[in-house]
Amino acid sequence: MAQDDAKKIAGEAALAELPSEGIIGLGTGSTTRFFIEALARAVSEGAKYVGVPTSESSRSLARSLGIPLLGDEGPWVIDVTVDGADEVDRDLHLIKGGGGAQTREKIVNFASKRNVIIVDESKLSAQLGEQWAVPVEVLHFAHAQTAAQLKRFGGVAMRMRNGEPWKTDSGNFIYDIATGPIASPRELDAVLHAVPGVVETGLFCGRSDIVLVAGASGVRRLVRGSV
Ligand code: 5RP
Repeated sequence: MAQDDAKKIAGEAALAELPSEGIIGLGTGSTTRFFIEALARAVSEGAKYVGVPTSESSRSLARSLGIPLLGDEGPWVIDVTVDGADEVDRDLHLIKGGGGAQTREKIVNFASKRNVIIVDESKLSAQLGEQWAVPVEVLHFAHAQTAAQLKRFGGVAMRMRNGEPWKTDSGNFIYDIATGPIASPRELDAVLHAVPGVVETGLFCGRSDIVLVAGASGVRRLVRGSV
């Protein structure tokens, strides 16, 4: 099955995880795009959903499709957030931030009563770090100093786009750390947070209630605590 087809199936399957109405966190990325499109169809048929976007790209997509949105300032009481991930381990810990949106995504995740993660099978790993580097959003001020401090965790690469440093929606930089397999994602997250200048990491530990995994045999529903 083509990866895009699996992403579409996962995105559309997430609709079944929503209450009949409510406040919905809108993740970021190509899988979430399919979810936002499905949500917009439900809204156009009369469903009363209001979104909280996790990025400017998700905001403009949702807005263009007619999904009503809340403001950025919060506080919100979000019923369910649906978001993608770059890597999922067997404890349903995640690496996120392939789209550079992990800081807003984490804030929205923590404001949500439930978090549903949508992925295709290629995202599953026994341990985080097997397939993906850990994206770290770093404050613009002294970012090279902060990056030097991050080198003790693995090879550090500044994320670039079109030959320029990638800037997040909040005007910061992303450094990707090639850690290799991570024995304890929670510990790594804590020590990364202790580095001055680190705004947020892409490690989401214990933050997924449900993971929907789409593949050739359909959608598997993984529930935290029972995998
Ligand atoms: C953005 C993210 C995305 O959810 C993650 O990168 C997965 O993206 P995609 O669905 O395009 O594979 O964390 O910051």
